[in-house]
Amino acid sequence: MNKNIIVTGGMGFIGSNLINLLLKKNYKVINIDKITYSSNFYNTKNFKKNKNYKFIKSDIGNRTKIKKVFFKYKPIAIFNLAAETHVDRSIDNPKNFINSNIVSVFNFIEEFKKYYKKNKITKLIHISTDEVFGDVLKGRSKENDTYKPSSPYAASKAASDHLFYSYFRTFNLPIIITNCSNNYGPNQHPEKLIPKLIYNILNNIALPIYGNGKNSREWIYVTDHCKALFKVFKKGKIGQTYNIGSNQNFDNITIAKHLLKIAKNKIQVGSKVKLKYIKDRPGHDIRYALNSNKIKKKLNWSSEIKIEEGLKETFNWYINNKSYFNLIKKKDILKRLGNK
Ligand SMILES: NC(=O)c1ccc[n+]([C@@H]2O[C@H](COP(=O)([O-])OP(=O)(O)OC[C@H]3O[C@@H](n4cnc5c(N)ncnc54)[C@H](O)[C@@H]3O)[C@@H](O)[C@H]2O)c1
Repeated sequence: MNKNIIVTGGMGFIGSNLINLLLKKNYKVINIDKITYSSNFYNTKNFKKNKNYKFIKSDIGNRTKIKKVFFKYKPIAIFNLAAETHVDRSIDNPKNFINSNIVSVFNFIEEFKKYYKKNKITKLIHISTDEVFGDVLKGRSKENDTYKPSSPYAASKAASDHLFYSYFRTFNLPIIITNCSNNYGPNQHPEKLIPKLIYNILNNIALPIYGNGKNSREWIYVTDHCKALFKVFKKGKIGQTYNIGSNQNFDNITIAKHLLKIAKNKIQVGSKVKLKYIKDRPGHDIRYALNSNKIKKKLNWSSEIKIEEGLKETFNWYINNKSYFNLIKKKDILKRLGNK
């Protein structure tokens, strides 16, 4: 059997970290990415010359290209991470989310269906989010809890999860779905909370906190997520859904204060670097939290990195890789979005 694996969205945050892990395990990785604003060629610089790595620029909805790639590489696994991912952007411009996360997913899965009839060696793992469950004020969401997405982003991901599941049930395709909590770590676009705070700390800019700052997220270090995805590929059961979380919830104020503390121990922090409360995001979910007992028990996975260690690693990575930010347009870092 070959060792070819397709990763879609591999020029983004989680995809590039996943490719790194797969290459270390000697798989041959084909990265399909359309290259949107959230892609960064810096993310793949360490392996772009690796003979086991191949980049193909394409939308996952481009059926002609996707068909060619499937039949040429005959992958043993496909990890689908390609998506529009920023909630604030989905408030300003939901159409991109419908196009990528639903319409392109539909075209991709249709091509997969045709391909799979002739090549029955592939597993397709669709990567999704805890946001599909909506606000969870108490307790933790289980895999079969009702979906109640609050943002156009979460709704579009929910739709893609449903599409993938329906293709398992109706067409017997070998599909597994994962729902993970908030990731952080190297290679993440500074539109997302943790790299945004780090960017601002490094550039003497105030730290924006939406609303009262009490919104709580279950933070997981990206390599923990990638290891879970690998376990799902190796041992996951077709047609199943697995939650992936760290069981560590923190509100935004706590995250910001923690990063400030790390920064103060490491660098001279400028006088403008202070928490600044700004207008809340419309529809802002108060809390997400996953129950990940299933993956822990059935696949023997659990997260390893505690928040203190993960935040330090992340802060150090951005300090040591400042040129990561140079490849991103300033307006994509600084402009307030989702403020309608
Ligand atoms: N970041 C998180 O905290 C988190 C948590 C759980 C699940 N997820 C899911 O993981 C996946 C990756 O998230 P991320 O944070 O790495 O996102 P990201 O925005 O950093 O990267 C997404 C990548 O997908 C590409 N892409 C977008 N639409 C595409 C299309 N139609 N065809 C081909 N490529 C396309 C983009 O160019 C980009 O490189 C997403 O599906 C997201 O919903 C993310």
